[in-house]
Amino acid sequence: MEKKELLYEGKAKKIWTTENPDLLISEFKDSLTAFNGEKKSQEEGKGALNNAISAALFEYLEEKGIPTHYVKMLDSNHMLHKRADVILIEVIVRNIATGSLSRNLGIEDGKVLPFTLVEFDYKNDELGDPKLNDQHALILELVKSQDELDYIRYMARKINRFLSEFYSELGLKLVDFKLEFGRDKNDNIILIDELSPDNFRLWDAKTNEKMDKDRFRQGLGGLKEAYEEVLRRIQNR
Ligand SMILES: Nc1ncnc2c1ncn2[C@@H]1O[C@H](COP(=O)(O)OP(=O)(O)OP(=O)(O)O)[C@@H](O)[C@H]1O
Ligand SMILES: [Mg+2]
Repeated sequence: MEKKELLYEGKAKKIWTTENPDLLISEFKDSLTAFNGEKKSQEEGKGALNNAISAALFEYLEEKGIPTHYVKMLDSNHMLHKRADVILIEVIVRNIATGSLSRNLGIEDGKVLPFTLVEFDYKNDELGDPKLNDQHALILELVKSQDELDYIRYMARKINRFLSEFYSELGLKLVDFKLEFGRDKNDNIILIDELSPDNFRLWDAKTNEKMDKDRFRQGLGGLKEAYEEVLRRIQNR
């Protein structure tokens, strides 16, 4: 399957059409951005690491019965997947308080939450991805009904249980992550986008060392080494 036209270029990926109108190719880029694009950098090999990690996680979730857009990895930085209509909600799932949750609500960094928190942000860079409640999402017609919001929240929690278990076996704590959902050609809601340490916070279970994009956000260095270590643990699973 070959790339045809560039459909969209985002901060992390280029999305290409293919000869099959139902399938797209994601090209994972080496660029790194944080704080809604304010901090930028480049890390050779990061795209390939995110592609490989995402592919492994999509395969795992598919095995667990989660419907996703994943078809296959084409080469080091290209993934073939179904085309979807993106639901413009960033679904944030949190097990441990850190980052904006700690800053905004004054919850101690590292505090294990009493239950998994699922939050919705409006996927809109111009507005700075503001927080949404269910009524906002319905007023903006980001989904068709409350039932769809309930389904998305239900799927996010289910995915969290599978991924927390997966990472725990690798000696990693799944602190929080961002998911995107879309509608496939049959109008089914499926998991889309990527499942990489750009969108996941992972802490080493023994040392609490950060193994994700916070290494870049916080200027800690060693981002590529951390992503390589995550992939190495996945491959040795
Ligand atoms: N299966 C799919 N079908 C159609 N579009 C998709 C699919 N999977 C992901 N996308 C979209 O493709 C784009 C991927 O590009 P990229 O991740 O670089 O976006 P972005 O500019 O980084 O946006 P953001 O920072 O909000 O993720 C996103 O807009 C994402 O919603
Ligand atoms: Mg993105």
